Amino acid sequence: MKGVILAGGLGSRLHPLTKITNKHLLPIYDKPMVYYSVETLVDAGIEDIIIVCGGNHAGEFLRLLGNGNQFGLKKLNYTYQEKEGGIAEALYLTREFVGNDRIVVLLGDNIFEKSVKQYVNEFQDQERGARIILTEVENPTEYGTAKLSGDKIEEIIEKPETPPSNLIVTGLYMYDSSVFEVIETLSPSSRGELEITDVNNTYLGKGILEYSILEGWWADAGSSIEAYYQAIKKVREKIYK
Ligand code: G1P
Repeated sequence: MKGVILAGGLGSRLHPLTKITNKHLLPIYDKPMVYYSVETLVDAGIEDIIIVCGGNHAGEFLRLLGNGNQFGLKKLNYTYQEKEGGIAEALYLTREFVGNDRIVVLLGDNIFEKSVKQYVNEFQDQERGARIILTEVENPTEYGTAKLSGDKIEEIIEKPETPPSNLIVTGLYMYDSSVFEVIETLSPSSRGELEITDVNNTYLGKGILEYSILEGWWADAGSSIEAYYQAIKKVREKIYK
């Protein structure tokens, strides 16, 4: 199992904080945001990791993380997303690194209270396909939102105007290596991006998308200044509780 951390983008929702640095390098309480992603993957037993950087200031990732020795890693791998093509496009850049392996993909601005190891183990036990992690939020219009029938997902709708539920898809995704063939079939969405939600819906259509419900809190530190602030608060509370 390999790990992919997606840390590109211009971070325009956090302007002007992101004018002179990359969103994923901003502090979340006592550590840069991207530290949490690397720690989450390492804690889940994933040591072969690639970071997709992008936008301006991408060189700073190397200066900050180097070979990942401070996380117990022997080396880290990097690649660069030249344009703003979306999460699925960023993921596609890792196809040679991934080869025929399975992957755990993590958005670099997502922070999880608890270990995600159990979900990775569940995916390991899965014969094939994909696994997503759902959690309940108060503002599902801002996320990929699951429409359920009983305990089955019928569809995932990206940023729905009228949300079918409060259960949204977190930025922790697990795929078999057929994900790259799936991405090749996608067309850009109305926001001009290759959507990860389209990837998940393709797996769903094939009947090979599984899901887990997240235990503990989840913070999306990059979606707004308020969300960024809340993420810092949650991390601080966890340290001092
Ligand atoms: C992305 C995905 C969305 C998912 C969210 C999790 O949103 O498109 O489905 O729920 O990450 O953080 P974006 O950050 O691109 O708005």
